[in-house]
Amino acid sequence: MNVFSVRNLRVAFPTPRGIIRAVEGIDLSIERGECLALVGESGCGKSVTSLASLKLLDPSVSIVKADEHTILGENMLDKGEREMESIRGKKASMIFQDALSALNPVMSVGKQLDEVFTLHFHLKKREAKARSIEALRSVGIENPEARYRAFPHELSGGMRQRVLIAMAFASNPALIIADEPTTALDVTVQKQILSLLSEMRRKNGTALLLISHDLSVVYSMADRIAVMYSGRIVEEAPAEELIRNPLHPYTKGLMGAVVRIDDKKGRFTQIPGGLPDPANKPEGCYFAPRCAEAAEKCGKCRPKLAYTGGSHYVRCFMHGGERDGRKEQ
Ligand SMILES: Nc1ncnc2c1ncn2[C@@H]1O[C@H](COP(=O)(O)OP(=O)(O)OP(=O)(O)O)[C@@H](O)[C@H]1O
Ligand SMILES: [Mg+2]
Repeated sequence: MNVFSVRNLRVAFPTPRGIIRAVEGIDLSIERGECLALVGESGCGKSVTSLASLKLLDPSVSIVKADEHTILGENMLDKGEREMESIRGKKASMIFQDALSALNPVMSVGKQLDEVFTLHFHLKKREAKARSIEALRSVGIENPEARYRAFPHELSGGMRQRVLIAMAFASNPALIIADEPTTALDVTVQKQILSLLSEMRRKNGTALLLISHDLSVVYSMADRIAVMYSGRIVEEAPAEELIRNPLHPYTKGLMGAVVRIDDKKGRFTQIPGGLPDPANKPEGCYFAPRCAEAAEKCGKCRPKLAYTGGSHYVRCFMHGGERDGRKEQ
């Protein structure tokens, strides 16, 4: 069963510097219980994609379009903010990178969890409290009765992220979008949080859109991986296939960057150069200026996302980029 689908998603931000095309025709589709990882370097459009997927972008600064957008088969395109609020709480939820700013600093974590149950499921206060304590226990928080009363600043970073995970799963949604859920944490805690996320997902059969700049973080968890570059998917394949047989030069670069010295902004230091100016993108393939394998054609024409067999898609002239793939734009 399809849980989430978006076709030809486009997001632009009109700015005094010109129109920033942050997302340029992305297709995503996630089945029940499946984990799709969206990977790419800082600024490629991952967060904008995830926010647009739950209609969380401010319409006064953004233009969002899609040919199709469904959650659990329901059309999202004509939904207003009030309807979206109820969908976000019950059917789909989001885990953000920075737990401290995602939580309300002046409310105990227990009360914040209670709201999921009182607002969306109309439970009485006492019932909500019992469910909240259970939710805290389910994410491995010891002594949940006491932690229920804690304020966000009284908890460690890892524990706060556990609270966000408890909150996201509290309503047993069909879809969770986790935008860099572990980037702010140190490596040991990062591993614990990811395995918690995996375990919760398996137990609940939740579909997960897992966003990360780091291929090495997501590949063991993901069923499929989509690699994003400058607002477009450049390669998508089942996780094992992508790791074993990366085709796009950018993905190959990311694989090289899997073992790297991490700079705090998560930049891929082993691929020279940076993303193109989003308000002034190159005429041809967006990756051509950084691509060691680029031919003359790559600087002039834009490749399409071509099917190469075995659920593997790639946007590169070396791999049939002039052909129309399933996700042709
Ligand atoms: N409100 C906005 N106004 C103008 N441009 C924006 C706005 N929000 C995002 N952008 C631009 O859209 C592009 C994609 O941003 P996005 O936050 O999705 O990147 P990201 O892949 O999530 O990066 P990171 O890994 O750093 O989180 C960037 O060029 C960013 O500057
Ligand atoms: Mg982001």
